[in-house]
Amino acid sequence: MRFQTVCFFIFVTSAFGADVDNETLVTFPDGFLLGAATASYQVEGGWDADGKGVNIWDTLTHERPQLVVDHSSGDVADDSYHLYTEDVKLLKNMGAQVYRFSISWARILPEGHDNIVNQAGIDYYNNLINLLLDNGIQPLVTMYHWDLPQKLQDLGGWPNRVLATYSENYARILFKNFGDRVKFWITFNEPLTFMDAYTSDTGMAPSINAPGIADYLTAHTVILAHANIYRMYEREFKEEQQGKVGIALNIQWCQPETSDDVDACDRYYQFNFGIFAHPILSEEGDYPSVVKERVDAISAQEGFTTSRLPKFTSEEVTFIKGTYDFMGHNFYTAVMGREGVEGGSPSRSRDSGMIQFLDPSWPESASSWLRVVPWGFRNTLNRIANEYGNPPIFITENGFSDYGGLNDTNRVLYYTEHLKEMLKAIHIDGVNVIGYTAWSLVDNFEWLRGYSERFGIHEVNFNDPSRPRTPKESAKVLTEIFQTRKIPD
Ligand code: NOJ
Repeated sequence: MRFQTVCFFIFVTSAFGADVDNETLVTFPDGFLLGAATASYQVEGGWDADGKGVNIWDTLTHERPQLVVDHSSGDVADDSYHLYTEDVKLLKNMGAQVYRFSISWARILPEGHDNIVNQAGIDYYNNLINLLLDNGIQPLVTMYHWDLPQKLQDLGGWPNRVLATYSENYARILFKNFGDRVKFWITFNEPLTFMDAYTSDTGMAPSINAPGIADYLTAHTVILAHANIYRMYEREFKEEQQGKVGIALNIQWCQPETSDDVDACDRYYQFNFGIFAHPILSEEGDYPSVVKERVDAISAQEGFTTSRLPKFTSEEVTFIKGTYDFMGHNFYTAVMGREGVEGGSPSRSRDSGMIQFLDPSWPESASSWLRVVPWGFRNTLNRIANEYGNPPIFITENGFSDYGGLNDTNRVLYYTEHLKEMLKAIHIDGVNVIGYTAWSLVDNFEWLRGYSERFGIHEVNFNDPSRPRTPKESAKVLTEIFQTRKIPD
């Protein structure tokens, strides 16, 4: 079945390919949205301003600053809470059509629940959204980009299924207040990353080591929460607001080391991407069978009487299946894959049975995990399109880190090469990519790497209280791309 799908796709590919001239190949299709992205905790600052509640990143950076490489925090960050008009100016100057930002849950609901709604938080996002629209820029809003209200973490955080209900209540408030103007919603950003935040006490917030169980419980709650939000929108808002709801999933291209490692990379893909994409986008719904089979078998071998992977009921499978209008995709890099088991304690990555490493010939960035592998982007897009019936894909993140500086030639190359690969996927392979937001509009708080690694296309001087923003070379090249809608030679 799978083989036939692949053959069919190659046939479509070559049929498309015959008609594509060089000019088209570097041109964005009509209606394709171009812009840039940020996330609340990474840029906003104002951590305790105007009634905002504490979130898990406030707690981590205040109580365990040694976990962040430069002992910094997002207390002030880019101060976008006060300087959002500056951010909108940057977008406007670039000719951006879309701005992806996230909403800080604790700024809207300081306690996490909807018992108290913080009007100052609602006002802040209303002002931002209105200013964007006045400048012809569409808001693409992420509801959750990792800054869980501390009060909900105190209940156990994502492994506690009650958060699927609290997420729905939070989302309802967002739809009610902003849905008349926001037409693109992302429920969750990179759940893969924050499910692992429950497997190490030196990792991302909440930085708790509950090995092997809390990660799958987190995935389970998040998938149910996503479906709750999607179905609630469908029932209560869709007809009037006509918006689109998706989820942003990350995956790195996996290059098998030898022909014996192809299955290992397939498993890596299912354990990292399929675990979320399959229940939502595939025909059968539910987790990929390889994930279910392996985790159930490994759990049994290790003496767990209940599998570490929770099960969806058949009603839940039906409820979750098809809960997307588009899929958000964050793409950065690739890994090499080899058959084998990594790590001692139970975890998702160990369960996948693949050893992951980097090809030393791939160009480096400032981030240990990020190598420049643009062809992996086209391959990944094809893989997603092939596996899930060519859904509309919005590239919600793509970007490169360095140590700072305006003359960021490596970032320029990263963007032009990745955009070219994406356009090949669109024009030659027929992949349905509908938009792209570069990560990130501005240098910002890069989680456990603090301000040491820079992803911005605009430089921010964090030593200056007014946080001046300056376009880097990459911002200039992207401006030309956004305005001409093609990649320059
Ligand atoms: C993905 C995350 O969504 C974003 O917050 C982060 O800054 C980038 N990756 C770069 O690591």
